Amino acid sequence: MLDVAIQKGRIGEDVYAILEKAGYGCADILSPSRKLVFEDEEHGVRYFWVRPSDVAIYVERGAADVGIAGSDVLAESRPNVYELLDLGVGKCRICVAAKSGFADPGGVLRVATKFTQIAKAYYAKRSREIDVIHLYGSIELAPLLGLSDVIVDLVETGNTLRENGLEVVETISDVSARLIANKISYKFKHAELTKLVSAVSERLGDA
Ligand code: PRP
Repeated sequence: MLDVAIQKGRIGEDVYAILEKAGYGCADILSPSRKLVFEDEEHGVRYFWVRPSDVAIYVERGAADVGIAGSDVLAESRPNVYELLDLGVGKCRICVAAKSGFADPGGVLRVATKFTQIAKAYYAKRSREIDVIHLYGSIELAPLLGLSDVIVDLVETGNTLRENGLEVVETISDVSARLIANKISYKFKHAELTKLVSAVSERLGDA
């Protein structure tokens, strides 16, 4: 039995569709319910629906053998896991954004973000001193209210930025969903994981 941590929500459902096509379907998993664990003995798989930011914790600590997490979350939390595959879904970018026409005055830059580690690493490389303001959501509000000079946040369609009079200043990195594995599971369930990776890779080729 393979234990798989998968994120709740639209990206998780897209990922599940790939896994199902690859032969890892699970009865009733998409039925509306508050249930968090779904098991399918025939396909040898047990899924856990978890919060996107928690997937890597379950995998790192071995509560799940594998999981699917965004590369944004992985870059932020740097879990001790193996990254096996880029699933090519959940694509977006991590960007620096500011009010349209923002002119950087220099000095300490106030940066609002949920990705504090990514922001710190990005500006450290540029030897720029920053004041990091950790927010949990609606990051775009910060420059509008004068809480920060810029934000570091996810941009998918760009609609949220546009509708709030903000624009991308720089792209830090591209983001997509990655298949990750627990390091001990990778050793002791090597055959199952190799089979999973090759079945999923084949389905990705189809897309
Ligand atoms: C994310 C992200 C941006 C938005 C980007 O927020 O933080 O706000 O989506 O998408 P877009 O470029 O297509 O507009 P989310 O909806 O997850 O909510 P949050 O603000 O609470 O983080």
